[in-house]
Amino acid sequence: MPPLPSPLLNPRLSSSLKPLLLLSQSSLAPWKFQIPKQLVSVKRRTSSCLASNQSSDNGGRSGGGGRYGALSPSPLADEVHRIDVNPPKGTRDFPPEDMRLRNWLFNHFREVSRCFGFEEVDYPVLESEALFIRKAGEEIRDQLYCFEDQGNRRVALRPELTPSLARLVIQKGKSLSLPLKWFAIGQCWRYERMTRGRRREHYQWNMDILGVPEVTAEAELIASIVAFFKRIGITELDVGLKVSSRKVLQEVLGCYSVPENLFGKVCIIIDKIEKIPVDEIKRELNATGLSEEAIEELLQVLSIKSLTKLEEILGVAGEAIADLKQLFSLAEKFGYSDWIQFDASVVRGLAYYTGIVFEGFDREGKLRAICGGGRYDRLLSTFGGDDVPACGFGFGDAVIVELLKEKGLVPELSIEVNNIVCTLDCDLQGAAATVATKLREKGQSVDLVLESKPLKWVFKRAARTNAQRLILVGNTEWQKGMVVVKVLSSGEQYEIKLDELE
Ligand code: HAM
Repeated sequence: MPPLPSPLLNPRLSSSLKPLLLLSQSSLAPWKFQIPKQLVSVKRRTSSCLASNQSSDNGGRSGGGGRYGALSPSPLADEVHRIDVNPPKGTRDFPPEDMRLRNWLFNHFREVSRCFGFEEVDYPVLESEALFIRKAGEEIRDQLYCFEDQGNRRVALRPELTPSLARLVIQKGKSLSLPLKWFAIGQCWRYERMTRGRRREHYQWNMDILGVPEVTAEAELIASIVAFFKRIGITELDVGLKVSSRKVLQEVLGCYSVPENLFGKVCIIIDKIEKIPVDEIKRELNATGLSEEAIEELLQVLSIKSLTKLEEILGVAGEAIADLKQLFSLAEKFGYSDWIQFDASVVRGLAYYTGIVFEGFDREGKLRAICGGGRYDRLLSTFGGDDVPACGFGFGDAVIVELLKEKGLVPELSIEVNNIVCTLDCDLQGAAATVATKLREKGQSVDLVLESKPLKWVFKRAARTNAQRLILVGNTEWQKGMVVVKVLSSGEQYEIKLDELE
């Protein structure tokens, strides 16, 4: 096929087009654009100077929300101050390149959940504050973004998804058929001290199983976390999961007749072991009423890293040992024994866990917990519902990205469109729209050039968007019901009937 015939081209451009269409895609520099100044700097405006601003700053377009030629004054205040263009501290914008990474990550979350037969759910980001108030002294309580709404209701931005899940399960009551396997991906807010991978807003992937009292549920959840790691190229040499059971602590505390209602509080204090000096931990435990002897034994048990050693101390009869042994045995069958290890110091910082608890960590020890979860069989009754056996985990989007960076595993993701459709003839803009519509109806992605642009510009844009084909709507071809197609990877060029364009 010869290159594009000249009559279909805008006469203004015809002499330069033939060589341009022969340009290979790779010879084009990436297309960049500059953000118009008026989008980032804000000027003092008055209604009388608005019209002149429109013509000088905006190339004749309205700056006050109107379209071409609109001359009405801005509805905003007369005096406009330059805003801080950064998002609030600890929060993120997601420009396209970051959004591509986020979508990539979330697609893996979704795919793993689908492979494990989980159904997706969601809850409001804004919940009643009461849902997150627990008395155990958790850090998460102090980090709550809460306020009174205009109807004088105390509300909070959710710091986690589990209480919302419990609320919905109570609300649905008997209409739910158990066991239920739900997953969610949602934004959570915590007024957190900022460290690497810890932010004031993050997205959490949650998987929860309700209605299964057996350790098979925890084993299945850990299998899904391992499946996710494998999908994104993380191996057991990079990360591991520390596993324990809160029943270990329960059994130790039981020997010292510590009242059950203190259990959550004690767990929260113990969870701080690596964050504050041990003397402070002892002092706090003592303040709950625990004897020095009980505290010493607790701390000793917490340092155990082997299940056999734990068995020696607790004896074989207890539930803690039975659960953990079953979990490790199932791990072998699932094929992820190398990923998990027993560590009695894992307690978790949320009061509601009652059994097995686990936390994902990077083996180099550079990052904070990658994910965490456990069994919470008694959460629903704290909200006035009937208890249902439950376990689950939360997996944040921030720490895993840090880990991917560390390992050089962040994928290169670029925009990719199937087609860029353009015309060089203003009168054929409608025809170009018809071509774009036909292709889109066939499931093809189309970047339709919406303004009259020179072909050089179109090629640059095609290079930036990684378009596979350039489709040019020219006058001569269009009159025959045809368009010109250029395959940008090979340079191959041909005319084709619109009806035959796939
Ligand atoms: P969590 O340990 O508080 O558990 O959070 C789970 C995960 O969310 C963490 O391991 C981390 O990946 C991520 N994460 C938490 N806070 C932040 C933060 N400030 N910035 C970035 N990432 C963060 C829970 O939230 C439980 N509700 C999980 C669960 C679900 N348990 C049972 N079902």
